[in-house]
Amino acid sequence: MKINKVSNSRLSEVNFDNLPFGKVFSDHMLWMDYKNGKWGEPAIVPYGNISVSPALHTLHYGQAIFEGQKAYRMADGRVGVFRPLDNCKRLNISAERMCIPQIPEDVFMKGLEALIRLDKDWVPKDESISLYIRPFMYGSSEFIAARPSEEYVFSIITSPSGPYYAGDVKVYIEESYVRSAAGGTGYAKAAGNYGGSFYPTRKIQEKGYTQIIWTDHRDHTLIEESGTMNIAFVIDGVLRTPPLSDRILAGITRDSVLTIARDWGMEVKEAPVTVDEVIDAIKSNRLTEAFGMGTAAVISPISVIGFRGTDYKIPPQGSDGFAPKVKAELSGIRSGRIADRHNWMMVI
Ligand code: COI
Repeated sequence: MKINKVSNSRLSEVNFDNLPFGKVFSDHMLWMDYKNGKWGEPAIVPYGNISVSPALHTLHYGQAIFEGQKAYRMADGRVGVFRPLDNCKRLNISAERMCIPQIPEDVFMKGLEALIRLDKDWVPKDESISLYIRPFMYGSSEFIAARPSEEYVFSIITSPSGPYYAGDVKVYIEESYVRSAAGGTGYAKAAGNYGGSFYPTRKIQEKGYTQIIWTDHRDHTLIEESGTMNIAFVIDGVLRTPPLSDRILAGITRDSVLTIARDWGMEVKEAPVTVDEVIDAIKSNRLTEAFGMGTAAVISPISVIGFRGTDYKIPPQGSDGFAPKVKAELSGIRSGRIADRHNWMMVI
């Protein structure tokens, strides 16, 4: 692979004690072009601006997808990437839905490994934060006919990042806007899924909530996701989460949490969760936890669920709750302090 290294690293300019999420970018990026029906050679080049035509296909039609993954500093100083092949597989699922060419798994994995190896000093030493990895693909043809682009870019950029949310999140059950519908792109990490969520999210943030709980497109009776995360509840001691469908993103953190819960012998139910049963379970003190699961935010405990003008408080569980325990287990696996029973870590 071609590697063009920076002559002067920007690493010494970074304040690792006060890192925002996704605003600081490391020295290098991976870049690969798709032209004339095939991928070219991947290259690692200095991170920097790109120049594009105003007719760049993606600017008009949003034929763009991305992934979110993380590299962690391990207790012994090495660097580990969490479940990278699963991100590659999901990128290809998104690519298929958005008519973008498939990325060969070995190209993704070798490119990712070379990039992280080169910029490994950008992985924060503080184990509670990480290097966020953002692979993305977009249509790069220069035409504005509404049909798939003919040229594409695959790139990976990385960003040493602090926490996504400052603390517990306050969510509101949305009954007007939808994030996805049956037959749509909800299961893909398509750029437009996120862009379309900004307006309804801003509206509920103006009312003091952090994020939306998305409900189903048809009659808003089923809980689907929370903000950019999958959602789970502990009701009567059972871990409950909506089943995957074409409306829900197959979260890798979601899968990891369910796997750990099952390893621990906890009852896990992947079945529809209705708004009514969540509200009833809160009222009758049977709902003990609600939390979001995602790469960026990891595990985000929900402290308040707003619904039709009423705020329902979920009492904090302290460190004995399932969410804090599973979060600690995941960070233990990522740091190498807890055995990686499922071979989730790619150690660099
Ligand atoms: C992630 O958790 O990686 C996401 O995709 C959220 C992102 C939109 C910041």
